[in-house]
Order: sequence, then structure tokens, then C-alpha cells
Amino acid sequence: LKVGLLFGGCSGEHEVSISSARAIAQALKTDFNADKYDVLPFYIQKDGYWQAGDLAQQVLESGTAIATINPNQTRWQFPLQAAEVEVWFPILHGPNGEDGTVQGLFKLMQVPFVGSGVLASAVGMDKIAMKTAYAQAGLPQVKYLAVTRSQVYSNPCVFPKLGDHIESELGYPCFVKPANLGSSVGISKVRNRAQLEAALDNAASYDRRIIVEAGVVAREIECAVLGNDNPKASVIGEITFESDFYDYDTKYTAGQAGLEIPAKLPEAVTTQIQEMAIRAFVAIDGAGIGRIDFFYVESTGEIFINEINTFPGFTATSMYPQLWAASGIPFSNLVDQLIQFALE
Ligand code: DAL
Ligand code: MG
Repeated sequence: LKVGLLFGGCSGEHEVSISSARAIAQALKTDFNADKYDVLPFYIQKDGYWQAGDLAQQVLESGTAIATINPNQTRWQFPLQAAEVEVWFPILHGPNGEDGTVQGLFKLMQVPFVGSGVLASAVGMDKIAMKTAYAQAGLPQVKYLAVTRSQVYSNPCVFPKLGDHIESELGYPCFVKPANLGSSVGISKVRNRAQLEAALDNAASYDRRIIVEAGVVAREIECAVLGNDNPKASVIGEITFESDFYDYDTKYTAGQAGLEIPAKLPEAVTTQIQEMAIRAFVAIDGAGIGRIDFFYVESTGEIFINEINTFPGFTATSMYPQLWAASGIPFSNLVDQLIQFALE
């Protein structure tokens, strides 16, 4: 079976995508998978151009992004090899890939693909749509407010009122996040009005829509989900870190964050989180793969759903594959199962 590995992409998580793709390509070469699958690599440069063949292979092997090589190429001209792909494996994190855009393209191509379809990908990427869906599904969440860029900028009289509203509804500390980014890009934790203003300004530079969330003192807990109509939940993992919050640098600088698998939690809490993870996956019509992130407030026993990632980090040391390894599904087997779920 010819598997089209699609990686890179126009997103702040371009480099993470390359790392995930390297690990998955490696897994497809192991004895477990090599007889079954042929890999065709496709690399989306940061400017949106697609590269196949040797150039894509070079990025997979070196792990280094390449800049524009052929400036006369037409952006929408797909590499000819795309026509050969029998199943797509979109290893893209963040906007322009994890958000339903590429999934829509595959649907139009009528070629199966790994992971969620257009709806779940789009809802999972947009924090406002996601929170609305989870509120409707009765999943507990921290308090939040949705804000638009035009509220932040267009009318100078709006901000004092907006700031007052955020302060009275959520208080400090709170988190300001662009609605549509991953890996904590553009996110700030703020403790006063001046920081709030700066954070809204920064978030508005990334997205038209912004979400502000109440901060909670909580443990960061994650659960992996695998499957289509009868999805399974993995053992639970916990993220430990020293930094003020789980920001981009903490996520991707070696040694800054630790993964505790399985998380040390009371059994009833574990079961409840697993059950909530599946409900969160089903609520947006997830397929194949998903990692659901939670806050667990130890002092009160409260569990809040933070978000779903429809294509979570997938490097050899990432939480998603490690949770499955700890649940009895090694990396190569996991990659195989994801492709098989795409073909269902
Ligand atoms: N968005 C990153 C890749 C994650 O959720 O793991
Ligand atoms: Mg995320």
C-alpha cells in the first residue's frame, strides 16, 4: 500500500511536524510494517509549496526545513506522485493541516486518510468552537471569554470595558490564547491589566479570534484515544515542568518537561478522565487519533477538559505514542493501526 506522508506545513509547528514525520517514517520501515507499506514523502514548505521525491526525502532524513527552492513553481500544482497515493498520513500540526483544510482536500481527492475528518479537525483546532461544543456536551471546563481582534483594536473606548469585564469574570492570573494555534504559540499568562493589554495585542497578531481563560492551579494530565466508532482510551499521562506554564520552549527544549506515565492518580480519577476523553473525542466526531488534555485540581478533585489535539505530537518521545506503548501498543504497531483505521 502506498502511504503518502505529508509533513512540514504553513504553521508555527512546522519543525514539530518534521520530527513527528521522521518517527513515523522510521516506524514504517521496521520489520513490522515494511512488507505492507511503501512510503511516498510529501513536504509542504513554510510558504505552502509542495515538494515530493528526493527533496521531501532529504527533509525526512536530515530533519531540517528547507526554504523556497523553485520560486517559479505554481503553488497549487501538486507533485505528480500525489496521484499514486492510496492512503494519506497527514502529519501536520496546527493551522493549514490539523484544522480540516488538508482533510477537505483528501475528501475531494477521494483518497482515505489517517485521523479526523473536516468537522472534527476544524472544531478541534478552533478553541472557541471546541469549547462551545464541549459546553454543549456537558464536559467541565474552566471559565473563559471569547474576544475578537476588532474588539481589541478598532474602538479605543472598548478596551477599558473589555478589560473590566475580563477582570470581573475571570480575574488573575488568566491565559490569553489565539483561538487557532497549537503548541502554545502566541499564548501568555497574565497577572495585571498592563500584561493583559499586551497579551491581547500579541494574540491578535496571530488570529482574529482570541480566548481568555481563568487560570487554575492544577496538574496537567493527558489521555490518548485511538479508534473510530468504538474508540479506546490509553493509560493516563502527566506533564511535569518547572516553568510558569507549559509554553512552547518548555514543550520542545529537551529536559524542560517530564512525562510521568502512568500518572499517579486515584483509580476513580483515572477512570473518570478516560471516560471524559472518549466523550470529548466523540463529541466532535473524532476519528483515528486524538489526545485530550485535562487539568486536575488535586485540592478539590475537580477535572477540567482543556482541549483536544486531533493530530498530537508524534515524535518517538511524544506523549501520544508513549501513552500507547504503556498501554501495550508499541510505536510501529500504533502507526499500522492508524493506517488501518483510515481504511475502515
Ligand atoms: N500541538 C502539539 C504538536 C501537540 O499537541 O502535541
Ligand atoms: Mg494543542
